[in-house]
Amino acid sequence: MYYIGVDLGTSAVKLLLMEGNGKIANVVSKEYPLYFPHPGWSEQKPEDWWEAVKTGLKELTEGFDKSQVAGISFGGQMHGLVILDKDDNVIRPAILWNDGRTQEATDYLNNEIGKSKLSECTGNIAFTGFTAPKILWVKNKEPENFARIEKIMLPKDYIAYKLSGSFCTDVSDASGMLVFDVKNKCWSKEMLDICGIREEQMAKIYESYETVGNLKVDVAAELGLPETVKVVAGAGDNAAAAVGTGTVGDAMCNISLGTSGTIFISSKEFGVDKNNALHAFAHADGKYHLMGCMLSAASCNKWWMEEIMQTKEFAAEQAAITEDMLGTNHVYFLPYLMGERSPHNDANARGTFIGMTMDTSRADMYQAVLEGVAFAIRDSFEIAKSLGIDIKRSKICGGGAKSPLWKKMIANILNIEIDVIESEEGPGYGGAMLAAVACGEYASVEEAAEKLVKVIDTVKPDAEIAARYEERYRQFAQVYPTVKELFPKIQ
Ligand code: XUL
Repeated sequence: MYYIGVDLGTSAVKLLLMEGNGKIANVVSKEYPLYFPHPGWSEQKPEDWWEAVKTGLKELTEGFDKSQVAGISFGGQMHGLVILDKDDNVIRPAILWNDGRTQEATDYLNNEIGKSKLSECTGNIAFTGFTAPKILWVKNKEPENFARIEKIMLPKDYIAYKLSGSFCTDVSDASGMLVFDVKNKCWSKEMLDICGIREEQMAKIYESYETVGNLKVDVAAELGLPETVKVVAGAGDNAAAAVGTGTVGDAMCNISLGTSGTIFISSKEFGVDKNNALHAFAHADGKYHLMGCMLSAASCNKWWMEEIMQTKEFAAEQAAITEDMLGTNHVYFLPYLMGERSPHNDANARGTFIGMTMDTSRADMYQAVLEGVAFAIRDSFEIAKSLGIDIKRSKICGGGAKSPLWKKMIANILNIEIDVIESEEGPGYGGAMLAAVACGEYASVEEAAEKLVKVIDTVKPDAEIAARYEERYRQFAQVYPTVKELFPKIQ
């Protein structure tokens, strides 16, 4: 049988066709536009996602025996607010996970409702990218749109709805809405009240590996797929990526270098850090996880190369950063091109270079960009360590994981071993695995991970380079506190 994983990302949707034994039969990617209508705002059209998914599914299954497709599931960009009216029309473009417009609503939630109340109801505090502040933003700034809301969804759930007609979500993605009681896996009535919404407007909640329905008859006909194909709830992209990299069960770690950068730690028990600097979310394996999320990771690389250097020669440009240069750079870069989530929770933060001199080279600047992302991941890693979590190794996935140099920087900056797995297609592969579990190919997510995920290489830290980076990280960590007061003033 075949299982399809749909990774509904921010720059593109990546679709993956997996055989029952885990072999990847085909991968297809379809881009769609990302809109920045104001500085710090970030939107996409759900209709664009749906068109890209349909075209992608047709291309993905072309030339394969479509009658063998058994299930389809998802890893979706998290937190995005998708609102539909009573006729299922999309009311306004989706407000995405990296949108910073909701500072006022976020401050209201954290300061007036209070962090302890939020944490008690949901296990988390408010961040500008989370869904609840966006609901409040629409309520306050677009009351006519707010009045029309019939259904509130997350990005991948819109695709599941279009495919199956089932108004559903899963526990991992729902966790990032701030209206979900993560520990008890149900909607928080108090939070729904605070946001001025009703439970009928919210989707039915599933575990990530549960079936929500089958393909709608007309959709199956349009895609040339059997009506029996199971549509499976799926997960937020980070939880799906964790499944795809075998980061399930207790105390396993995955680093994702996608548009965002995350550090994800699986846990058998629900737990919250006392400052809520890390997100405490449900996992796609039926358990829980902690996560730190930085808003611009591989997107800093893309921005520097394509927008500033005006080149796509990533490998050639990275070749100029030789091993002897690691841990010696005097230039630092704060990678806050879209503000920052973990751990600073500061939508006003901005990208910053510091430390250049007349002999600073193009390679030094690029190195600072790549290192800045790795240092920012270390910021969240430090919080996990302060909670007593002992991480000695991590998996890695996402577009940035293709770079041997970046993996080496991360291994040395975090001073841990980085396990490289056979497939870097984290969320897509994880999505296909969730579909396979729902269809009975594997008894559990943990069993699927154990049987399918193979480590093919390990990048080890070098004692000398790691020691040099230790010193650099101490300096990096002082830059943000020193300049943060300036950010709101220079906008
Ligand atoms: C996680 C987050 C991002 C998006 C990226 O909290 O906001 O990683 O899920 O798609």
